[in-house]
Amino acid sequence: MAIQTVGIVGAGQMGSGIAHVFALAGYDVLMTDVNQASLDKAMALIDRNIERQVTRGKTTAEAKAAAMARIKTTLKLADLGPLDLIIEAATERETVKQAIFEDLAPHLKPHTILTSNTSSISITRLASRTDRPEKFMGFHFMNPVPVMQLVELIRGIATDGPTYDALLEVVVRLGKTAAPAEDFPAFIVNRILMPMINEAVYTLYEGVGSVKSIDESLKLGANHPMGPLELADFIGLDTCLAIMNVLHDGLADTKYRPCPLLTKYVEAGWLGRKTQRGFYDYR
Ligand code: CAA
Repeated sequence: MAIQTVGIVGAGQMGSGIAHVFALAGYDVLMTDVNQASLDKAMALIDRNIERQVTRGKTTAEAKAAAMARIKTTLKLADLGPLDLIIEAATERETVKQAIFEDLAPHLKPHTILTSNTSSISITRLASRTDRPEKFMGFHFMNPVPVMQLVELIRGIATDGPTYDALLEVVVRLGKTAAPAEDFPAFIVNRILMPMINEAVYTLYEGVGSVKSIDESLKLGANHPMGPLELADFIGLDTCLAIMNVLHDGLADTKYRPCPLLTKYVEAGWLGRKTQRGFYDYR
């Protein structure tokens, strides 16, 4: 059965970006969060970001109006139960994600596919706590979702072929490219990206370069669109640290040891753009 109705749990940066691309691709979207203010903020952000695409000729005003009309919001998680596909994009904490899947369980239809946008938590473990590990997958979008072409499709140990094929079809309809990945700590993108960011923080910590020289080196010397410290601020230093901890714990190799300076920034509450302060000062 082709997927048409999509439930998104979490209206943050990722959840709103995911709602944006699904609605523009013609899916009916129902987005939920724990408070109305987050949902209102997400709708305003989606409106602004699609408007930006209209201004730059990437889409039309008619397509924007149709997409906005396809996105509905609710404060009741249970309302998502009857939909074809659920994408959990809540806080990157395993207990939070597990609680969401447990609360959803009694409301789901037998055909519903469950997915998580987690950037590093074990898909197999999340799936094992649901009634349908064969219909559970990692569905990992990159930030900013409307711009980044890639979606990681992560199979848990029990994920079946039809579930994989259904999500692959969705990625194609979104106009994006799928990277199939097996379920090991941090999958593909973050397995490679986070040690690079962590190494950039060590380079700063050891005084090899300044924030400016480290970022400029990678931008001008390796053609990266953002320097690694600027990118860390963009992703969130707490997220970067959490992913390094998943790599360190899951692969038990000291090469993944989080840089003490990264830990210190997180302890200070300097989490990057979202708190106005990280390696850069946005105040
Ligand atoms: N919605 C819609 N369009 C957006 C957008 C958004 N949220 N953000 C940017 N854009 C569009 C702009 O309108 C612009 O469009 P045109 O090409 O048509 O002009 C284009 O994207 C470029 O944006 P800007 O001109 O504003 O700025 P920029 O050239 O500096 O690019 C950037 C911004 C796209 C974010 C770029 O710096 C970049 O690619 N950075 C790296 C991002 C990255 O690596 N993301 C992955 C993070 S890792 C991750 O997400 C995984 C994880 O689990 C942590």
